[in-house]
Amino acid sequence: MAQLVVALDLPTADAAERLVDALYELDVIFKVGLESLFGYGDRIFAHMEARDVRHFIDAKLHDIPRTAAAAARQLVRQGTHIINVHAIGGNDMMRAVTDGVAERAAELGMTAPHVFAVTMLTSIGAEDLNELGFRGGLGENAMRLAALSRDAGCSGVICSAHEVRDLKRYFGEDFLTLTPGIRPTGAAHADQKRVTTPREAVEAGADYLVVGRPITEAPDALEAAKAILAEMR
Ligand code: C5P
Repeated sequence: MAQLVVALDLPTADAAERLVDALYELDVIFKVGLESLFGYGDRIFAHMEARDVRHFIDAKLHDIPRTAAAAARQLVRQGTHIINVHAIGGNDMMRAVTDGVAERAAELGMTAPHVFAVTMLTSIGAEDLNELGFRGGLGENAMRLAALSRDAGCSGVICSAHEVRDLKRYFGEDFLTLTPGIRPTGAAHADQKRVTTPREAVEAGADYLVVGRPITEAPDALEAAKAILAEMR
């Protein structure tokens, strides 16, 4: 069954803690992005640990293999369910991270978190790709990077819900997909261009749905999250 990931995209620890408090009794995963990680990482991890919730650390690691693996080991803690890397870091980097994460989880006596790969940032367009010197189109590059990340031991990729069916067809049901760009019917799209509803994403076969502003900016975050969960089920 698909799981809901709520992005803690909030400027202060107080605001993020309030959101965790509002939602922790629902079966959701909290996403700690770069804003919360750099702004108040220690505090939000301690708070989530006290609430015994699972989290996805959206640190998008990309460095030489040793550095990326060492950073990934530091990210593994109680409750870490997913961490991620840029597939563009290459096979050796991704393999070092997946191995490092598995090793660290074993040391802590916990299930190894999933490592997901970002193939192509959704902010990259065809022209950017050309400027960067990539051959081929966006879809082609994303698929190649997905294959590379699977071979390097990643659990799956972060992608648009529109790409889930193709990815599952090529790589099998066990290759997991995590999809942002989710907007309940009637919600504002803001800067997301290719959006799907929670129901459409689930029907396409997405394993994790990431939702930020439709929950963080709702007058009642709990009601908003419950409505999305209801639509997913
Ligand atoms: O507020 P919204 O629902 O658009 O938040 C989506 C979250 O998913 C944000 O934290 C954003 O950084 C993240 N994300 C994304 N698109 C990607 C990768 C991550 O929107 N391709």
